[in-house]
Amino acid sequence: MNILILGSGGREHTLAHQISKSPNCGALFVAPGNAGTLSCATNLDVDILNFEEVGQCILANDIQLLVVGPEAPLVEGIKDYFEDKPEFSTLKIIGPSKQGALLEGSKERAKEFMKAHQVPTAAYQSFNKHNLDAGKSFLAKMQAPFVLKADGLAGGKGVLILDDLKAAQDELENMLTNQKFGKASEKVVVEEFLDGIELSVFVLTDGKNYLTLPNAKDYKRIGEGDTGLNTGGMGAISPVPFADQAFMEKVDQKIVKPSIDGLHKENIDFTGFLFIGLMKVGDEPFVVEYNVRMGDPETEVVIPRIKNDLLDILNKTANGNIQDITLDVDTQHAATVMLVSGGYPEAYEKEKVISGLDAIQNSNDIFVCHAGTKLKNDQVVTNGGRVIAVTGFGNHFQSALEKAYTQIETIDFDNMYFRKDLGKDLV
Ligand code: AMP
Ligand code: GLY
Repeated sequence: MNILILGSGGREHTLAHQISKSPNCGALFVAPGNAGTLSCATNLDVDILNFEEVGQCILANDIQLLVVGPEAPLVEGIKDYFEDKPEFSTLKIIGPSKQGALLEGSKERAKEFMKAHQVPTAAYQSFNKHNLDAGKSFLAKMQAPFVLKADGLAGGKGVLILDDLKAAQDELENMLTNQKFGKASEKVVVEEFLDGIELSVFVLTDGKNYLTLPNAKDYKRIGEGDTGLNTGGMGAISPVPFADQAFMEKVDQKIVKPSIDGLHKENIDFTGFLFIGLMKVGDEPFVVEYNVRMGDPETEVVIPRIKNDLLDILNKTANGNIQDITLDVDTQHAATVMLVSGGYPEAYEKEKVISGLDAIQNSNDIFVCHAGTKLKNDQVVTNGGRVIAVTGFGNHFQSALEKAYTQIETIDFDNMYFRKDLGKDLV
């Protein structure tokens, strides 16, 4: 079958790499893709938010399976767009409907959904500019630190955690009346601070049944020791050492099952990945957020640990036969380290030549994946903040990390930066 993956990051390169290994993979396309996806697929120069253009590609290349990588096209309703059109009646899509995607597209909706289905999460209230004063009083009754979340998509920047009450009240006003995060902060969720350790759980669902994929922990901050600005993710490990079987059973019963049952009860078309960000507080899991796609860089450590044919898994999911899959997960640990452009997550330069990639052989120990690259005059150059994800595999996350760090010594570009302390918090 012919497949089209939408996106251009490490997530999409990893998905393309794994799908391309399937005996049932026909022509594989990535739109727009990167220099790495060229090694296993054909890149298509398409604006993934222009659904008409995506549709033309699907028809021209006889695509049977569309895998949507990032959240934006899902929140914009790409699934609904194709489902309404008879010429796409046989197209299968991995990704939820617009209504399903609201679990990521609106923090308020996500909280209401959790409340309705008794999924443990931080206590909250949401506010708009008309009840700003009530929001300030609500904050005054809470204890520091104060958590403010812009309701809509804000590129991972819409959450503020503040220690000072006055600062929190001022920021709430700034978000609601000055639209600090544009339309995304027309509404703001104010919630209780959860004091614990974070991890992520990934579920593949057809909206009724589900498969829980390997879990992962990512490193969000730019600086060593988890300091500095938030990024899309500076690295990740899988499995998570502090998520033992008893805890994961709790996650299944208290979080995953009620979430999927909730989708089913509400009759929401949700065929795809549900990424559940969790806080482990003591021994109890609480949901911090839902995402309606795989994480990046979590994909780089989660997907390679799945030994099944990925295309077969996605096909069965799209056909509503997820119950026929028995997941075969590698006991090997995976750890990925992201190489980023100097300056990221603020301003950074692009088009720096990347050296050392040609000599690398992906193996059972190493997978080097492109996150933000392109080809220019036959050279691979940087094309984003996050540039390359180097994943190592080993019997323990420490040996997996060692392999990644050793491989990194062979790669270079101007102003390359990466965190050297991954995993140290877990020892
Ligand atoms: P979110 O976009 O909702 O995942 O929030 C971004 C980050 O803010 C999370 O990954 C957490 O590190 C932190 N965060 C969000 N909500 C809370 C909370 N209620 N308590 C503590 N930390 C939080
Ligand atoms: N690494 C976090 C995310 O993909 O949202």
